[in-house]
Amino acid sequence: MMQGTPLLLVLSLALGAYGISVEKCNLTGHWKNDLGSNMTITAVDEKGNFTGLYNTSVADNPSKILQSPLLGFQHLTNTNGQPTFGFTVNWTFSEATSVFTGQCFVDEYGKEVLKTMWLFRRHQNTIQDNWNGTVVGTNEFTRLEPQME
Ligand SMILES: *[C@@H]1O[C@H](CO)[C@@H](O)[C@H](O)[C@H]1NC(C)=O
Ligand SMILES: *[C@@H]1O[C@H](CO)[C@@H](O)[C@H](O)[C@H]1NC(C)=O
Ligand SMILES: *[C@@H]1O[C@H](CO)[C@@H](O)[C@H](O)[C@H]1NC(C)=O
Ligand SMILES: *[C@@H]1O[C@H](CO)[C@@H](O)[C@H](O)[C@H]1NC(C)=O
Ligand SMILES: *[C@@H]1O[C@H](CO)[C@@H](O)[C@H](O)[C@H]1NC(C)=O
Ligand SMILES: *[C@@H]1O[C@H](CO)[C@@H](O)[C@H](O)[C@H]1NC(C)=O
Repeated sequence: MMQGTPLLLVLSLALGAYGISVEKCNLTGHWKNDLGSNMTITAVDEKGNFTGLYNTSVADNPSKILQSPLLGFQHLTNTNGQPTFGFTVNWTFSEATSVFTGQCFVDEYGKEVLKTMWLFRRHQNTIQDNWNGTVVGTNEFTRLEPQME
């Protein structure tokens, strides 16, 4: 036991750094963020493009919230398996659009975290109101449940 522990530690560190992290950070699956919103990314294909659905927990009129489609790209060709990505959400219940960009990281516990920034554009009635049309923010996503398959 005293001899085995350091070896296991070395193995798991090596897998964490090189093996597991390459498998992880595939955006496919169910995610939740720090505001309680959920999204499902259906499948990241071999080119890195993906579609999904976003259930927000926050809106100008919360009683009207409906799940909304999203469309994006994951940048696949990086060496450490912690890719950048971006997607657009087409809000189905309001005249608004959001874009998210971010990166998937594997934290020190081996858990995937999506660090994102977003711009939210609401519809403005006049060009004079344009200055007030766009909001910026950040969100952090973690997996809602273990990935299927
Ligand atoms: C959004 O919420 C609806 C209704 O609760 C649910 O059926 C759907 O699976 C959810 N979608 C996502 C992407 O979480
Ligand atoms: C991501 O994972 C899904 C589900 O396991 C799989 O179908 C898809 O091929 C993977 N995409 C990439 C680019 O590895
Ligand atoms: C990715 O793009 C290709 C080519 O436009 C398309 O055939 C495929 O369905 C797309 N995949 C997703 C997950 O949207
Ligand atoms: C996100 O999923 C959790 C767990 O299933 C659920 O409790 C919560 O209501 C969902 N949030 C939204 C905005 O759909
Ligand atoms: C985008 O949202 C609008 C308004 O809900 C809807 O009419 C349109 O079909 C949506 N587009 C896609 C690609 O889902
Ligand atoms: C900014 O825009 C929102 C929504 O269009 C509006 O309700 C609000 O009054 C505006 N704020 C100012 C300071 O004009």
